Amino acid sequence: MPQTKKAEAGPIAPGEASSAAAGDAGLAAPGDLVFPADQPAASLKSKDLLGIEYLDADEIRLILDTAHHFKEISKRPIKKVPTLRGKSVINLFFEPSTRTRTSFEIAAKRLSADTQSISASTSAMVKGETLIDTARNIEAMYPDILVIRHAFPGAAHILARTCSAGVINAGDGAHEHPTQALLDALTIRDHKGSIEGLRVLICGDIAHSRVARSNIHCLRKLGATVVVAAPPTFMPCDVESLGVEAFDRLEPALEGADVVMTLRIQLERGGKLSFPSTREYFNLFGLSRDKLALAKDDAIVMHPGPMNRGVEIASDVADGPRSVILDQVSNGIAVRMAVLYLLAGSEAAKKNVETAA
Ligand code: CP
Repeated sequence: MPQTKKAEAGPIAPGEASSAAAGDAGLAAPGDLVFPADQPAASLKSKDLLGIEYLDADEIRLILDTAHHFKEISKRPIKKVPTLRGKSVINLFFEPSTRTRTSFEIAAKRLSADTQSISASTSAMVKGETLIDTARNIEAMYPDILVIRHAFPGAAHILARTCSAGVINAGDGAHEHPTQALLDALTIRDHKGSIEGLRVLICGDIAHSRVARSNIHCLRKLGATVVVAAPPTFMPCDVESLGVEAFDRLEPALEGADVVMTLRIQLERGGKLSFPSTREYFNLFGLSRDKLALAKDDAIVMHPGPMNRGVEIASDVADGPRSVILDQVSNGIAVRMAVLYLLAGSEAAKKNVETAA
């Protein structure tokens, strides 16, 4: 884990110094943000987090381990450390979001970064400005990290190519949602101890889901067996190429599952046209208590949200004793703190700071 260097400079690592002590710990002045020499070789290889596909298992474990230590900060009476003081994080959310956007804002604030949020309705993109021009103008304001959610798969890649700031993909169309998969992995690890060897079922609208894609990459890299279940209209035709076993019925897919992750039908990405009625969908693919009984006795139930109760999941399952859905939300803050910390501490970020000093 990153270690604290309490004197002169530097990010205060998770698990160290109380908020009050951290406040006295010689906060980093602009231009002298120095990262501890004994921080693990550890930082992510890229300046950006664009997808789980581009991470290796060690990088995923580094993020999860870092997040594990950051969890404690959210339980303090004063939930703030000076780790990223002087850094700027800009959230660009061009699609609706409750969890991810709030979570990134809270995570950045808990690390003392300055934050600014821009949404589709408040950006000049409604006046016809392109994403690249928007990115160039934001870049001219010297942000350190840009967080982007966009309906277009690849939007985060465009931003990353255009900007020297670190870019975090907060969901790009049906492509990837890396921090969701990371918070899901942290939640599974919390409840199961380890991910290796688990059987994880992802069921629902796989075809339109960035959460499914990121989770498949993440869980397989960590050694889980991933199975997916969906009606044929919600199943990508090449899904096996992702290394999963595919089922067109929920019941057989549930057998032996340690984790059951249900997904919302992505109505905004074409899901509406793919089934006759929500009642029929619930009867066939909704996770009810009866169906959940086919999974292992200690199987946990997950959902990335937003949930449609009575469609992909029954209310008594969503609120039941096996549900870890709200743990996922809590872990989202720690994971996003970890990602912000690791990207702001990357070689590229350090170089930028040294250059500016
Ligand atoms: N899980 C998730 O991405 O939720 P939001 O759309 O509310 O951010």
